[in-house]
Amino acid sequence: MMGGGNGLAFVLLMLAVSQAAMAQPGRFDILIENAGIASMHTALTHVNTVIFLDRTNIGPSEINLTNGVCRDNPKDLVSTHDCSAHSVLFDIASNTVRPLFIFTDTWCSSGAFLPNGTLMQTGGDNEGFKKVRYFSPCPPGGACDWVESEKEMLAGRWYASNQLLPDGRIITIGGRNVFSYEFVPDQGLGQFDLQFLHDTNDEYNDNYYPFVYLLPDNNLYVFANRDSILLNYFTNTVLRKYPTIPGEPRNYPCAGSSVLLPLDNANDFSVAEVLVCGGSNKFAFPYPPAQLGASQTCGRMIVTSNNASWEMLTMPMRRNMGDMVLLPTGQVLIVNGAQNGSQGWGSASNAALNPVIFTPSTSQFDVQAASTIPRVYHSTANLLPDGRILIAGSNTHQYYTFTGAFPTELRVEAFSPAYLDSSNDFQRPSFVNPPTVLRYGFNFTIDVSVPGNVTSPIQLVLCSVPFTTHSYSQGQRQLNLAVSQPLFINGNTYSVSSSAPKSAVLAPRGYYMLFPVHKGIPGRSTWVLVTY
Ligand SMILES: *[C@@H]1O[C@H](CO)[C@@H](O)[C@H](O)[C@H]1NC(C)=O
Ligand SMILES: *[C@@H]1O[C@H](CO)[C@@H](O)[C@H](O)[C@H]1NC(C)=O
Ligand SMILES: *[C@@H]1O[C@H](CO)[C@@H](O)[C@H](O)[C@H]1NC(C)=O
Ligand SMILES: *[C@@H]1O[C@H](CO)[C@@H](O)[C@H](O)[C@H]1NC(C)=O
Ligand SMILES: *[C@@H]1O[C@H](CO)[C@@H](O)[C@H](O)[C@H]1NC(C)=O
Ligand SMILES: *[C@@H]1O[C@H](CO)[C@@H](O)[C@H](O)[C@H]1NC(C)=O
Repeated sequence: MMGGGNGLAFVLLMLAVSQAAMAQPGRFDILIENAGIASMHTALTHVNTVIFLDRTNIGPSEINLTNGVCRDNPKDLVSTHDCSAHSVLFDIASNTVRPLFIFTDTWCSSGAFLPNGTLMQTGGDNEGFKKVRYFSPCPPGGACDWVESEKEMLAGRWYASNQLLPDGRIITIGGRNVFSYEFVPDQGLGQFDLQFLHDTNDEYNDNYYPFVYLLPDNNLYVFANRDSILLNYFTNTVLRKYPTIPGEPRNYPCAGSSVLLPLDNANDFSVAEVLVCGGSNKFAFPYPPAQLGASQTCGRMIVTSNNASWEMLTMPMRRNMGDMVLLPTGQVLIVNGAQNGSQGWGSASNAALNPVIFTPSTSQFDVQAASTIPRVYHSTANLLPDGRILIAGSNTHQYYTFTGAFPTELRVEAFSPAYLDSSNDFQRPSFVNPPTVLRYGFNFTIDVSVPGNVTSPIQLVLCSVPFTTHSYSQGQRQLNLAVSQPLFINGNTYSVSSSAPKSAVLAPRGYYMLFPVHKGIPGRSTWVLVTY
């Protein structure tokens, strides 16, 4: 029996429990109240700017082009004369945006960075279907803008996925009702039909934006719907079929997300493991959308293992349209999305406001502090050079619509994981005169300063810059480099020896963020060009 005193103790206990729940780790901060556009596609550049890109046939945005420039495109489905911008460049340091000019429609397009740091962006809808566009980043304050190429892709691609290859080519795979891949720009090889894309195209599709990873054996892992293959892209041969993942479909419109877990020097970067999280009940998509519960499972599979199989895990909450971001600590942030329904206009409800952080070594999920802003369809998440995660977009409407349950979202936020708390600053490493180039197979040393005592290794972690759209970051990969014990130099400074990746198969040429990480606390990264 519970007496009055016990009842009070119980209430106090519950208060304490709810206070503990309120003190969830991490923090959201609004960076910009009005970015002018809702970013459907987002990519960080190596000069610390971020490309925000929406679609063009969406009517007026909330930011105009400058200097009296307008877009007169007779093929635009909505406004043939349009003076508003549909892409902007965000400068991290000044926290400002500059309008960019994009001519053809980029709706549900794809992208990847070239080895020289230029973003190649491909496809879209309507007159943008076969388009190839380039954005060469300039230092903040510059006037760089989109350049659209005369040379088109062979197939129109809407909802395709791109991957930079070791030889510097870009492969683009799949798309809506296109069951092939090609290399962009085409050098005469043509398109390659891929039966796997036919096989995974069910009555609601569920195979758009396939998850594509370059593996350490220079084959591609391709996941669509609930199935996956190992593809030799030189010979167009399927080398392996993997087991079907249990549970819901995981690609658009069911909208799970996925990452290739960090490649690790401990096994000479030879082990590749894929993580797929969330998705929707397949019958949530048909119109009118049913608000069935989203998937609550993740699967992890070592795809380089001879007898690969899915290990299934349960997330703390259901989620579709999540974005998965590889953190410098080797953990995975799962953020944005909803708990019911599916991907598509007005198709989801019950926003998933709390991110979770997944730790691969323990398979543990930790619920993070909530955002106040629902980020459902057409929202993005990208790692920044200081370890924050930039969160943009959400527009589940055909046009910009600022009323109703999920208004078009123009605010940009950053999520700061607890590793950025100032209480960790005494362990936070920072580089002293870091290198700007890492050459394949070469050793290098780097000086790192840490305010507190250094009693454990200082890890060096390479992070690629992905092209993020529709809950999947194309080209995202991370390498945990080999490091020596820190060698004391003087004051708070230590020297660390390390080795660059051995080949472009492990890390295709290009710009990467190199992070120092000490006892799970990352310092600010430096940009390195990984090359021959
Ligand atoms: C863009 O320009 C149009 C035409 O001058 C104007 O009506 C509109 O208010 C402007 N929009 C913004 C966000 O400045
Ligand atoms: C990078 O390469 C692309 C494709 O060859 C080219 O269009 C672009 O101008 C290059 N960018 C720089 C900065 O050299
Ligand atoms: C959302 O999904 C949960 C879990 O399946 C379910 O209990 C709930 O009724 C759903 N919400 C709506 C509005 O259908
Ligand atoms: C196959 O998988 C099982 C269970 O996951 C594991 O115990 C075993 O070591 C694996 N064998 C090989 C050859 O990889
Ligand atoms: C790099 O360092 C490792 C470990 O000290 C050593 O085994 C290797 O030979 C070095 N490689 C080069 C190219 O110097
Ligand atoms: C750092 O190490 C020194 C020497 O071992 C010790 O006296 C000091 O308390 C340590 N400082 C911290 C903050 O741990």
